[in-house]
Amino acid sequence: MSRPPVIVRTLPALRRALDILRTRNASLALVPTMGALHDGHVSLVRQAKRRAGKVAVSIFVNPAQFAPNEDFAAYPRTWKADLARLTEEKVDLIWNPDAKTMYPAGFASKILTEGPALAGLEDRFRPHFFGGVTTVVGKLFAQVRPDLALFGEKDFQQLRVVARMARDLDLGVKVMGVQIVRERDGLAMSSRNRYLSPEHRASAPALYRALKEAAKRIRAGDKLAPALAEGAASITAAGFKLDYLEARHAETLAPIAARKDGPIRLLVAATIGTTRLIDNVAV
Ligand code: PAF
Repeated sequence: MSRPPVIVRTLPALRRALDILRTRNASLALVPTMGALHDGHVSLVRQAKRRAGKVAVSIFVNPAQFAPNEDFAAYPRTWKADLARLTEEKVDLIWNPDAKTMYPAGFASKILTEGPALAGLEDRFRPHFFGGVTTVVGKLFAQVRPDLALFGEKDFQQLRVVARMARDLDLGVKVMGVQIVRERDGLAMSSRNRYLSPEHRASAPALYRALKEAAKRIRAGDKLAPALAEGAASITAAGFKLDYLEARHAETLAPIAARKDGPIRLLVAATIGTTRLIDNVAV
């Protein structure tokens, strides 16, 4: 049986644990999570293990990135299963602060980012989201001081926002994106997939099918607008309420009008029943 990771819940305990992990100058990778771990997270941990001497995973359901009408209270908390998975993956450290440790009384600061954070994608529908993400990720970087931090490409705009922030603020951490892990039918793995009813779960892969088909048409030389319009129609026909399906520059997330202006990333967000899903593919 593998030895369980060191679990720390206070800043002094984190500092002590990091001093021990850092002996012999081991490089350190951080995988920030909100728990409810799935194979996508495991893939981040495995990439981290390949690239760094020691691996820390943070588990913190961050209230600051949820709007009052969102699912903070209902967000799945699966500590026992998460610990079992991280033990199996031989993670070195779990940083699991509570909200009072992360946001003590009187906390009054926020990291505000522009550029990819104002691309008009997730920020248009969840205006509070990136302020909450950048503030907590900035704090996680300051607390853990990793050399490398890994984020899933499913939250593609988040990845671009965090990478930009780390560069702009000279945080001394390399931000790396890791490929989306999909279910057998193509649905991108997400902690929120468990909210889907069986009927909506059966319809959900329509999102990835539409992305793949639009990417194929664009690669074959079709214009962006009709390829995206057909994708949008097939997503709506599968029962989704579509927030956006867009072609953006894969680095800057700026709107893009023609393939030659790429590299292109197609990004989608849509709700089925009460579950909002996001996904994206490279063209
Ligand atoms: O992607 C997530 O799980 C969260 O947004 C993150 C990066 C852990 C920040 O709370």
